[in-house]
Amino acid sequence: MEIIILKDAECVADMGGELVAELLRVSPASVLGLATGGTQLALYRKLVDKHRSGGVSFRQATTFNLDEYLGVTTDNPQSYRAYMQRELFDHVDIDPDRTFLPTCAAGQNPVLVGPDYEKKITAAGGIDLQVLGIGVNGHIGFNEPSSSLNSRTRVKTLTRQTVEDNSRLFDTGEFQPRLAVTMGIATIMDARRILMLATGANKAAAVARMVEGPVTSMCPASILQMHERVTVLLDEAAAESLQNRDYYDWTHQQNESLKARFGRSHDV
Ligand code: GLP
Repeated sequence: MEIIILKDAECVADMGGELVAELLRVSPASVLGLATGGTQLALYRKLVDKHRSGGVSFRQATTFNLDEYLGVTTDNPQSYRAYMQRELFDHVDIDPDRTFLPTCAAGQNPVLVGPDYEKKITAAGGIDLQVLGIGVNGHIGFNEPSSSLNSRTRVKTLTRQTVEDNSRLFDTGEFQPRLAVTMGIATIMDARRILMLATGANKAAAVARMVEGPVTSMCPASILQMHERVTVLLDEAAAESLQNRDYYDWTHQQNESLKARFGRSHDV
């Protein structure tokens, strides 16, 4: 894992945005795996700004989102489809027909959504770069603790904690889903590169378990230790419980000097 600790959430979004934009400049037809959540809002703002200033085009890109709520239609502002339209898709030149979420249409059997989504990802050639956030309990996508490390896209029940963590986004009395369709952990691990963003002190414990804890289904993000190409961008607050901090900073310095000498092409 490449662990990069930056001053604040703004710097995390800056570096994350540049990494995604650089990939699209080098390989405009890339397949991106996208995430929702509060952490990613700043990332999408950066990408929209870059697009407006001519710094990135999504014209040939394809996107697959990690997850979508069950029981919420796409025109509901709480749906992850609505989030993606609002925060990114409506503001860039992406082809709407190449933006995918694991949405279960009204009347569709939710059990069939997962295998169908997997086929679409395979048909697109697999995911080049998967963007991830992390839940306070170590979840990635909606793969909650105890999810099979070999899971594929399927229906998952959210933990009470996740429902509670996300309740700030719902009005009192508004329907809040307890079920979602999420890419599985094996689906995420198939991505050729992974970019994890985590900011804020409430993520510090989960980040420490992900990076320095044992690989365990009780912290689904810890499986990323087994992936050969993961970049973790953290702000100071999210990094505060890491024990090996000195080494990550030292490594980052070495990587930067390698990049300065040999260019960034190995990085995208
Ligand atoms: C959500 C999403 C995840 C997201 C995570 C963190 O519930 N399913 O994809 O990365 O939890 O969200 P936030 O960035 O709002 O803390």
